[in-house]
Formats: sequence, structure tokens, C-alpha cells
Amino acid sequence: MKRVIIVTGAGRGIGLAVARRFAATGDLLVLNDRQFGDEAAEIVEQAKSCGGDVAFVTGDVSRVEDVATLVTMAMDRHGRIDVLVNNAGVLLSKATVDTSAEDWARVIGINLTGTWNCLHAVLPGMIARRSGRIINVSSELGLIGFATYAAYCASKGGVIALTKAVAKEVAPHGVLVNSVAPGPIETDMLKYDTVEYNDETREQIPLRRFGQPDEIAAMVEFLAGPGGSYMVGQIVSPNGGTAI
Ligand SMILES: NC(=O)c1ccc[n+]([C@@H]2O[C@H](COP(=O)([O-])OP(=O)(O)OC[C@H]3O[C@@H](n4cnc5c(N)ncnc54)[C@H](OP(=O)(O)O)[C@@H]3O)[C@@H](O)[C@H]2O)c1
Repeated sequence: MKRVIIVTGAGRGIGLAVARRFAATGDLLVLNDRQFGDEAAEIVEQAKSCGGDVAFVTGDVSRVEDVATLVTMAMDRHGRIDVLVNNAGVLLSKATVDTSAEDWARVIGINLTGTWNCLHAVLPGMIARRSGRIINVSSELGLIGFATYAAYCASKGGVIALTKAVAKEVAPHGVLVNSVAPGPIETDMLKYDTVEYNDETREQIPLRRFGQPDEIAAMVEFLAGPGGSYMVGQIVSPNGGTAI
């Protein structure tokens, strides 16, 4: 049976790569982002040629009403949600003393509360059907910390703790919750740092290269598929060896 899959932050980067993977398997996609460009639009043809379907719903995951619109759209169109990929996120690179209360609230609001909003909105349906997969995209930095990324690390550490707690709670109801915690991946997010800084960082990665979005999408696909059937509350970190 075709799966109904919500991916947040699917307009570019890792979310777009995840959407491409699922479009290629003929799934029924409901994609969220704050805006969509031409790259995302190309998925429609890809999905159609593989027997799938794509709907775009613009919205901000930190807003409960936008998330309600997203979930209602998926339910009206397909009648159920099988997989939620909580991917939308923002980075903040600032010394802690320069980070304002607004900065903190924005990063926590999108990365942590946004994840909670989506998870909270889809769980009742999944529990009622005794079936569902939720994959939260966190970050290896939520595990190891990073200077000048305190709000980001706190938000992603929160996503990791949220994943573990909810996973234990809902696994008995047939819903599997896990997290992918990427290392440095070549997306627009890396553009927050300078070329020199990125060159230096690359040399410190045991694999000597940044990861590609599709290398994260592959892990998400695994956790959402048959191979992930015994995975509960796991934090899987494709990171080129940066955190072992
Ligand atoms: N790239 C990395 O090295 C890396 C490493 C570890 C974890 N991650 C995580 O992976 C996820 C995807 O990151 P990425 O590298 O693909 O970044 P990206 O290229 O910046 O893409 C993030 C996407 O999320 C969207 N988004 C941001 N805030 C949103 C909101 N409030 N509601 C809905 N959509 C929103 C962005 O939309 P806009 O265009 O409107 O901003 C953008 O399309 C994030 O959670 C990130 O923290 C990334």
C-alpha cells in the first residue's frame, strides 16, 4: 500500500532530498515549507511517473494553526498519515552573550516546539490505527555541543530527549519514533559559516568531506521502511565520523 508521508521543511536541503526519495517509491507526499521553489515543483513529475502524488502546504511549523492546516490537508486528501518526517529547522551561530531572548525563542520555537507541534498533531491518528513512523531530524551537535551554537544545540538536544521519551510512550501503541542526527551536510545551512571555516572543518572530518543531503535521506527512508521495524527511540548519526 502507498504510504502517506508528511515532510516538513521540504523546500530545499535535506527535506527536499527526503521528499525525492519518497517520490521515487511512489508514496503520497504532503510537503510543508515556508515557501517552495522550482526544485520542489520538479518532484511532482517524478512522483507521478512513479505512481505517487505530491501536495504542497506552506506554513510555519512553530505555529500550531499552520500545523493543523498541514495535518488536515493530509487527512482530507488521503484519510491517514503513515509517516511524519520532522525536518524543518534553523541554525543560529552567535556567542551566547550576544544571543537575545528573541533569538533563543525563535530557534527553540522552530526546532523543538515545531517538532513537538507536528508530532502532537499526528500522534492521535497513528495511535488509533496502531501504526505510524515518526522521524525527527536532530543534529549530532545536540549530542556533543558546539561553541557559539548554544540555542541550536539546546533545541536539538531537546529533540533527542523528546524522541526518546515519546518513543517509549507510544511504541506499545504501534508507533515507532526515532531520530536522525546528521553531522555537517552540504546544504544552505553550511553557508552560515565562512569558506575558510568550512575548509578547516572538512579537514577534521575523518571522511574528509561533508555529507550530502541524500545520505541523510537514505537513513530516513530506512527508518520509515521495513528495515526500521525494530527501531525505537534510536538516535542514528550519519556524520562521516565527526562524533563517534
Ligand atoms: N546541514 C547540516 O549540516 C545539518 C546538520 C545537522 C542537522 N541538520 C538539520 O537538518 C534539517 C534540515 O536542514 P538543512 O541543512 O536541509 O537546512 P536548509 O537547507 O536551511 O533547509 C531547511 C528548510 O527548513 C525550512 N524551514 C525553516 N524554518 C521553518 C519553519 N518554521 N516552518 C517550516 N519550514 C521551515 C527552510 O525554509 P526557509 O527557506 O523559509 O528558511 C528550509 O527550506 C534541520 O532541522 C537542520 O537543523 C542539518
